[in-house]
Formats: sequence, C-alpha cells, structure tokens
Amino acid sequence: MNSKSILITGCSSGIGLCSAHALKQKGYRVFATARKEEDVKKLQSQGFESILLDVNHSASIKHAIKQIVELTDGTLDALFNNAGYMQTGAIEDITRDIERAQFETNVFGPMELIRLVLPIMRKQGYGRIIQNSSILGIITLPFYGAYNASKFALEGFSNTLRQELWGTNIHVSIINPGPIKTHLRETAFQIYQKTIDHQKSHLFTKEYKKMEQIYFASEEKTKLAQKPDAVVKKLIHALESSRPRAHYYVGYPAILLAFLRRILPDCALDWMLRKAR
Ligand SMILES: NC(=O)c1ccc[n+]([C@@H]2O[C@H](COP(=O)([O-])OP(=O)(O)OC[C@H]3O[C@@H](n4cnc5c(N)ncnc54)[C@H](OP(=O)(O)O)[C@@H]3O)[C@@H](O)[C@H]2O)c1
Repeated sequence: MNSKSILITGCSSGIGLCSAHALKQKGYRVFATARKEEDVKKLQSQGFESILLDVNHSASIKHAIKQIVELTDGTLDALFNNAGYMQTGAIEDITRDIERAQFETNVFGPMELIRLVLPIMRKQGYGRIIQNSSILGIITLPFYGAYNASKFALEGFSNTLRQELWGTNIHVSIINPGPIKTHLRETAFQIYQKTIDHQKSHLFTKEYKKMEQIYFASEEKTKLAQKPDAVVKKLIHALESSRPRAHYYVGYPAILLAFLRRILPDCALDWMLRKAR
C-alpha cells in the first residue's frame, strides 16, 4: 500500500473521528485508535484499521505501536495526538490526583507516543507530528487551571521538540482550536460533577453556579463554536504542506485571542478574560 499512514488518538468522537473519516476519504491509511473495545469495533465496522489505545497506559501505547509497525513494515508517516479531556474547577478545589490524571491524558500520553514514533520517523527520514492543543494553551481562563496547565505543557514540549528536530525532515505542528462542537463540554461536565465538590466550595459557589448555567448548560457559547471540519482543514495543511506551520489557530475567537495575547499587557488581558468568561 503506497498511501500515507497516520495514527490518530481519540477517534471515538469529535475531532478525532472527523479527522479519521476525512483523511480516509483522501486516501490515507488511517490507524483510528480508541480506548474502548466497543469504539474500536465500531470504527472497524466503518472500514478503519482500528486499534485499542488508551493514552493513560504505557502498555496500551506500546502494544498499539507494535501492531502498527507490524502492519506497515516499520513505517509511519504521521501522528495526530488528539485524545484529551477538559478538567474544570478552581485551582483551590482540585487535588494532586485530579491534576495528575489531566496530565496523564493531555501531556504524558502524547509525549510517550512521540518517543515511540520518532525512531520510526528518523529511520525513514521524514514524518509529521501534529498536536491538538487549544487556545487554552495560549491564554488562561479562571476555573480551567488544570486544563490550561496541561495544554501549556503540551505547547512547551512541542515547541522544544520542533527545535530539537530542526533539519531532520520531521515536522511538529500545534493546532490551537477555539470552541468546536464536540462531546468535550458534556464530558467536562460529567468529570466536574464527579471530581469537584461544588456544593461545599465556600469560595466559589457563585462562580460554579454561573459556570453550570453558562458554560455547561447554555447553547450561547456554542454559537461561536465551529464544526470539527475546521480543525481538519488545518490538520491537512500540517500534513501536506511543504512548509507546515508551527501553530494553526482555528476560528476567529482563537485567532483574536492569540493576537491579543501578543499585544496586551497581562492586567488588560486578565480583565478582558474575566469579563468574557
Ligand atoms: N471541542 C473543543 O472546543 C476543543 C477546543 C480546543 C481543543 N480541543 C481538543 O481537541 C481534542 C479532542 O477533543 P474533542 O473536542 O474532539 O472532544 P471529544 O469529542 O470529547 O473527544 C475526545 C476524545 O479523546 C478520547 N480520550 C480521552 N481520554 C483518552 C485516553 N485516556 N486514551 C485515549 N483516548 C482518550 C475520547 O475517548 P472516549 O470517548 O473513550 O472518552 C474521545 O475520543 C482534545 O485534546 C481537546 O482538548 C477541543
């Protein structure tokens, strides 16, 4: 098979699933991975070479890469680190375990995958690594501290990696979407209910109520949200351009916020983001 191969994490829904379909349609050999057996089966029934991969577990990561290497005779053109979730809650209300769980999925999993695909890419002499970060990897919002920290960390190590891989023909790109219509918000609400004792938080009761009414429950915020295809467009550029960009901002809110981050002093940006939330 001569088509380009790509491993995508988190293909059970949202951006991962949409990317898998779009790239398959373009002729890519897509290894659409998911962490649940039922999702792997569903993807297989849709014609994907789907493999079980839970980014929280080293054994699962290693097993998935081993299977792919066997299927491709030791090659892999691209990796799209997409899997992730959003932990909300005030920094004073989250625990070390909650923060660690957020980093396992959003940071350590992608790092480990990269370390396993790089020898393959170095051997073949080329490769593309694309990271699904967020505009929240560039700007911060109150009550998103755990997620912010994980995406800032993803930015940091991806930027370092890009510098370390200079001149190797292995390119690292970061995608920074603004709001996208996916399951992210629903899942974030479930995790928030499970992990944050919002009834007992004396400091932030009012703020949490507002968050439940505005961010989790209302359709308002999704008005600005784009479909996952908007991310896929940038992903395709990062995969196919001879000069892939370091950063791709998706949607006007992300483009505007990234610009404001550059020109505004911290106090002005803080004021604006507190109001906009
Ligand atoms: N939607 C947005 O507004 C937005 C904006 C900026 C950035 N992003 C980023 O986009 C990425 C994809 O999110 P999405 O918006 O498409 O949301 P989504 O529909 O909730 O998809 C998240 C995907 O990640 C998977 N996942 C979570 N934990 C995993 C693990 N330990 N191992 C493997 N897969 C795991 C989920 O699998 P399960 O179904 O098994 O949970 C799901 O397939 C995330 O990194 C997110 O931070 C999203």
